[in-house]
Amino acid sequence: MSHPKVRIAVIGVGLIGPRHAKAVINTRTAELVAIVDPAPRAAEIARELGVPHYTSIAEAADSSAKPDAAIICTPNHSHVPVAKELSSLGIHVLIEKPFSTDVPSGEMLLTHLKTTSVHALVGHHRRFNPYMVAAKRIVSSGRLGRIIAINGLWTLHKPLDYFDAPTEWRRDKTGGVVLINMIHEVDLLHYLFGPIVKVYAERVVSQRGFEAEEGGAIILKFKSGVVGTFTLSDNVASPYNFESGTGENPLIPKSGQDFYRIFGTDATLSVPDMSIWSYQGTKSWHSNMKRDSDTKVESKIPFELQLEHFCKVIHGEEEASCTAEEGLGALKVCEAIKSAFETDKAVEVDAFEMR
Ligand SMILES: NC(=O)c1ccc[n+]([C@@H]2O[C@H](COP(=O)([O-])OP(=O)(O)OC[C@H]3O[C@@H](n4cnc5c(N)ncnc54)[C@H](O)[C@@H]3O)[C@@H](O)[C@H]2O)c1
Ligand SMILES: *[C@@H]1O[C@H](CO)[C@@H](O)[C@H](O)[C@H]1NC(C)=O
Repeated sequence: MSHPKVRIAVIGVGLIGPRHAKAVINTRTAELVAIVDPAPRAAEIARELGVPHYTSIAEAADSSAKPDAAIICTPNHSHVPVAKELSSLGIHVLIEKPFSTDVPSGEMLLTHLKTTSVHALVGHHRRFNPYMVAAKRIVSSGRLGRIIAINGLWTLHKPLDYFDAPTEWRRDKTGGVVLINMIHEVDLLHYLFGPIVKVYAERVVSQRGFEAEEGGAIILKFKSGVVGTFTLSDNVASPYNFESGTGENPLIPKSGQDFYRIFGTDATLSVPDMSIWSYQGTKSWHSNMKRDSDTKVESKIPFELQLEHFCKVIHGEEEASCTAEEGLGALKVCEAIKSAFETDKAVEVDAFEMR
């Protein structure tokens, strides 16, 4: 059955908003109907995109352009109030990550969303990265057997100017690698293995001398029983991280090196080379191992896949991949990691509800 196009507004057109707007224009199942952003240059962007410009959500909602759904691309601290306003008007929301900047306001939004009938999706678009889609398919297929453990790496070097004005807040407590980068990893781990329920972490030595943490060695326990270790550092020379491995960020050269190893009772998968290692013949350390790399990785644009998924969620054809609970869940795990750095203790995390 074909549906009418989902009428979408993009809220906030700074760096990332225009990319979402173009994805909407390129998607057959959606139609861009409005740009909402009070900044003067937003009018020019809307003109270029050929859609009406509004300076507030209320103005767009009152107009003939009233959207069915909105993509929230405003600064982090505004995600909660903006999502609340839109959802109160019955407008479905795709909320860019992070879901919120702190757990209490995130809980408040979660409670509010439950009182509305809108669908909410959180924009952890790496779930739609082709390598991750392929990894999820392999993990779910049972080909690795029962998943026992995961070993992950996010290691690279951020140059000092990353911490200069106008983003000198990255030197502060909330500007560290856990909330900015590890949150993506946590969401991918949640996607692959379900909720993390306990973490322990040791912080790496600080070389820059800022308050912001530079990484750590992290131990994870999942509700499913899977366990994981993660090495995180933004201050080492290394090709082993999601961006270098997949080449998804044009500003970070591709290395193609592996950043996840997923250990199952029958085989081990490494990502993004998608090698599946298993014993030849008898399952024993005495047997030779073979390496299969027959997995097809389809190159599709994550933003467009995410948008198509959002439209299907709105039509009731798919369950939201990254729900509000999972968006908040990723933040909770990151706060737990930071708390473990400080307390030298394992920290338990409430598991989000699985669909
Ligand atoms: N998924 C990703 O990989 C990814 C990448 C980049 C950014 N993001 C997220 O997207 C969000 C936006 O990031 P950015 O770099 O584009 O920010 P930005 O600061 O470049 O742009 C934000 C825009 O929002 C506008 N704005 C502020 N308050 C508003 C409001 N109440 N209503 C409407 N417009 C408002 C501002 O005028 C500005 O144009 C952030 O939350 C960021 O974390 C995600
Ligand atoms: C918030 O948004 C900015 C984009 O403006 C992003 O670069 C940053 O990593 C986010 N901050 C946190 C703490 O998540």
